[in-house]
Amino acid sequence: MKILIIHGPNLNLLGKREANIYGTKTLDEINALLKKLAKELKVELDIKQSNHEGGIVDLIQNSKQYAALVINPAAYTHTSIAIRDAIAAVEIPAVEVHLSNIHKREEFRQKSLIASVAYGQISGFGYESYLLGLRAAVSIANAKKSVS
Ligand code: DQA
Repeated sequence: MKILIIHGPNLNLLGKREANIYGTKTLDEINALLKKLAKELKVELDIKQSNHEGGIVDLIQNSKQYAALVINPAAYTHTSIAIRDAIAAVEIPAVEVHLSNIHKREEFRQKSLIASVAYGQISGFGYESYLLGLRAAVSIANAKKSVS
């Protein structure tokens, strides 16, 4: 089983970027933890990062080989109908993750355009949001496999 992780814009700066909000772990460190967990869960992982809305849409459109997606759309969470529509179009279960709890931040961050097409959302657990997201994605994909 293959899972795709998508990191959105500015997440390549993790570790240096607003560490009081997003934590001190770099994206490479988070990716290493994700790969370690994937091994434990016996799933394959592809991990991508893009600062571009269209690049993220392309990744989602080309994700048919994956059993599930884990996506942190970052700032596009709050603005991107295109990413929302791409997730709706591919019909692959998507877990939306955020390091910070977007619901207790600025008003403009409290609205997610992605949430209504995501299987579910994990928000506010720092880098652990990704690990919880991967566990959720594997569990959803396994449940889907067992009914099909
Ligand atoms: C974020 C929250 C977004 O509002 C913000 O634009 C990000 C990161 C998070 O992981 O907490 O870049 O998605």
